[in-house]
Amino acid sequence: MAHIRALSTAVAIGGLVALGSAPAAAQTAEVLHYWTSGGEARAVAALQQEFEAAGGTWIDSPVAGGGGDAQATVLRARVLAGDPPTAVQIKGPNIQDWAAEGALANLDEVAAAEGWDEILPPLLRDIVTYEGHYVAVPVNIHRVNWLWVNPALLEQAGVAVPTTWDEFNAAADALLAAGITPLAHGGQPWQDATVFETVVLGLGGADFYRQALVDLDPDALTSDTMIAVFEQMRRLSGYVDPNFPGREWNLATRMVMNGEAAMQIMGDWAKGEFAAAELQPGSDYLCVPTPGAAGYILNSDSFAFFKVEGEDRIAGQRLLASLILGTDFQETFNLFKGSIPARNDVPPDAFDACAVRSMDDLAQAVAADSLVPSMAHEIAIGRAARGAFLDVVTEHFNSDMTAEEAVERLVEEVELAQ
Ligand code: GAL
Repeated sequence: MAHIRALSTAVAIGGLVALGSAPAAAQTAEVLHYWTSGGEARAVAALQQEFEAAGGTWIDSPVAGGGGDAQATVLRARVLAGDPPTAVQIKGPNIQDWAAEGALANLDEVAAAEGWDEILPPLLRDIVTYEGHYVAVPVNIHRVNWLWVNPALLEQAGVAVPTTWDEFNAAADALLAAGITPLAHGGQPWQDATVFETVVLGLGGADFYRQALVDLDPDALTSDTMIAVFEQMRRLSGYVDPNFPGREWNLATRMVMNGEAAMQIMGDWAKGEFAAAELQPGSDYLCVPTPGAAGYILNSDSFAFFKVEGEDRIAGQRLLASLILGTDFQETFNLFKGSIPARNDVPPDAFDACAVRSMDDLAQAVAADSLVPSMAHEIAIGRAARGAFLDVVTEHFNSDMTAEEAVERLVEEVELAQ
C-alpha cells in the first residue's frame, strides 16, 4: 500500500490524483448530469442500477436542460465553491480545460485494468486523455446529423424523403400547403446550432465544415458557402410552428411522433425518445442523414471524476469508471440512449436499423475523411468560440438579419472569442 500512497502523493503534486487501488468499504458517487428526458433518464437509470448492483451508493444530481449549458453553469459554480461532484457527465474540450486546471482524477489504473487502449477508437481516446493520461471515460457515440421523419405525414403531402436541401425546401413547401408543420424545432441556442451545423456539412461538405467550425478560418466564415448556409437557415425559420421558442428538444421529437410535425433535425438521442415510446424505425418513423453532402457529425458523452475528499468517494469513482465500458453495460445503455457503443467490439445484433446505419456510416466517414466533430455539442471547439456561433445563429434565426450581416457578425464574434 505504501507504494500506492507514494504514487498518489507524487501524482497529486503533479496536479492529477491517482485513484486508490483498494476500494474502501463504502463506494459513493454523487453524479451531476443533464439526462432528464424519457430516453436519457432510462439510460442514466441503467448506469445507476449497474453501480448499485456492484455495491455502490449513487447520489443523483440531475440538472434539467437539454444540451447541457445549464449543467455547465452549475458545475462551474460548484467547483469554484470547493464542492465538486464525484462524477460529472462532460465532453470534448471541456474535459481538456478541467484537466489543465488539475481538477480531474487520473484514471490510468482503471484504464489499464479494463484494457481501454484496446477497446477505444483513437477518436475517443483523444477526447478523454490529457497529456497521455486518461482523465475521463466515454460512454457512447452519438450522431448529430439525423433527420427524423413521420412517413405518414410525408405521404399525406405526397412528398418523398428529401436528400438535398432544395428537395427539403420543396417538400416543406408542399407540407405547408397541406396544412402540416414541416419542421419540429425547439428554439434554444444549442438546438439552432445543431440545425446550423448539419446545414454547414450538407452545403459545404466535410472539408468546409472543418475550415469553418474547427479551424475558425475567417475566409470560410465569410464565404459564399456560409452565406448560402444562413440563407438556408432563413428558409428553415419559415418551416417551424409559432410555439417553437424555448421548446425542449424532446417535446419537438414528440411532435413528430404524434403527427403534429413532419420532421425534426436532431442528434440520435431523439431515437431514445422513440424507443421509450416503443415506436419502431422504418414504420412508425424514419431516420435518415440530413440532406446534402455525406458525412458524420460526432458527439460523444463521457464521465469525468473531480478530485474529491473521502475514501468512499474515491472508491466510488473507481467503481463507476470501471463499469462504464463494460460490454453488457455498453449495449444496455446505448440501446436506451439512442447512441452506439463507445467500445469497438460490441456486437450490433441487439441494435436497430438506425444504430446499424450509424455504425456503418461512421466506418465510411472514417474511411472517406468525412467524420467531423460537433460544434453545437462541444466536441469541436471550446466554450467561448462555441458561444459566438450560438449567439449569432440564434439571433439570425429569430430575426430578419440578412445572411451577409450574419457572416460579418460571426467572423467578428469568433475573432473576439479567441
Ligand atoms: C447532448 C448530449 C446528449 C443529449 C443531448 C440532449 O449535448 O451529448 O447526450 O442528451 O445533449 O440533452
